[in-house]
Amino acid sequence: PTEKGWVANYLHQYQGFWHTTRQLHGVLTCQTHFQAQDSDILLVTTPKSGTTWLKALTFALFNRFDHVVDPKNHNNHPLLTNNPHELVPFLEIKLYIENQVPDLTTLKSPRIFSTHLSFVSLPKSVSDSACKIVYLCRNPKDTFVSLWHFTNSLRLKEKGSNSLEEAFGKFCRGVSLSGPYWDHVLDYWKASLEKPERVLFLKFEEMKMEPELHLKKLAEFLGCPFSPEEEASGLVDGILKLCSFDTLSNLEVNKTGKLPSGEENKAFFRRGEIGDWKDYLTCEMIQEMDKITEEKLHASGIYEASGQ
Ligand code: A3P
Repeated sequence: PTEKGWVANYLHQYQGFWHTTRQLHGVLTCQTHFQAQDSDILLVTTPKSGTTWLKALTFALFNRFDHVVDPKNHNNHPLLTNNPHELVPFLEIKLYIENQVPDLTTLKSPRIFSTHLSFVSLPKSVSDSACKIVYLCRNPKDTFVSLWHFTNSLRLKEKGSNSLEEAFGKFCRGVSLSGPYWDHVLDYWKASLEKPERVLFLKFEEMKMEPELHLKKLAEFLGCPFSPEEEASGLVDGILKLCSFDTLSNLEVNKTGKLPSGEENKAFFRRGEIGDWKDYLTCEMIQEMDKITEEKLHASGIYEASGQ
């Protein structure tokens, strides 16, 4: 099925999830050609769930030896001069576009990729390998508001903005980039319960509230825990500061740079907070979205531990 979309003119449903035309080509090419390696790391999100932050943190974890992360002086770190999306590429949006089949075999291990692919759409080689998947989930109301701002910032010049009401209706029906949001989240949640050694399920809100704990959890899951010496040296805090919204959003590269695909880097940094939806959604919208979330997710136990 095809529906009128909000970023692109049309969104297409494939394996139950919605994609722009360009993205769908990427999904198909990636499914056919991507060869996962056991040491690969896949960072998975729905759009606007904190992908940029997760990319920065994961990249910083694996580049703490080559590039000394000193809390007072980050001068030589690649994150200071590159947008995180340049350092950790999207499979289906960056690498496998327009039927391109890139040679990824020469990349140094561990290769870190990101994707918005749903669990059912992951290339078969991913499930056949022992590669690790980190899923970052953000509450649906903030994800929606962030996505609405993002799509408007991309559309404004040519097509004018989407009304919040129209976008909200589509999001709730599941018709949004990589949506339905709830199905996307649920499938990875289930996978994380079935194979906790392969899939780590993180929540944006918990990471904001206890960043140190979650960075350490991420490091352990990815097989690169902090040594006592590293902890004592302030490395954990140094990485968190380097990857913080304040640091990244104030870098020259993220204020003025553009990605090769044309998006302005600053579009990936807006407020970076929890609960911004309160300024945008009406009581009816909040009720409607909470009802869907309750129906689709609560029985799964996703929110039990965090009380979101
Ligand atoms: P808001 O629009 O709510 O501010 P993605 O990276 O998946 O595209 O998601 C973008 C959202 O993450 C935006 O949310 C953005 O501001 C926020 N974000 C970007 N970098 C961040 C960081 N380092 N820490 C926390 N949030 C960040």
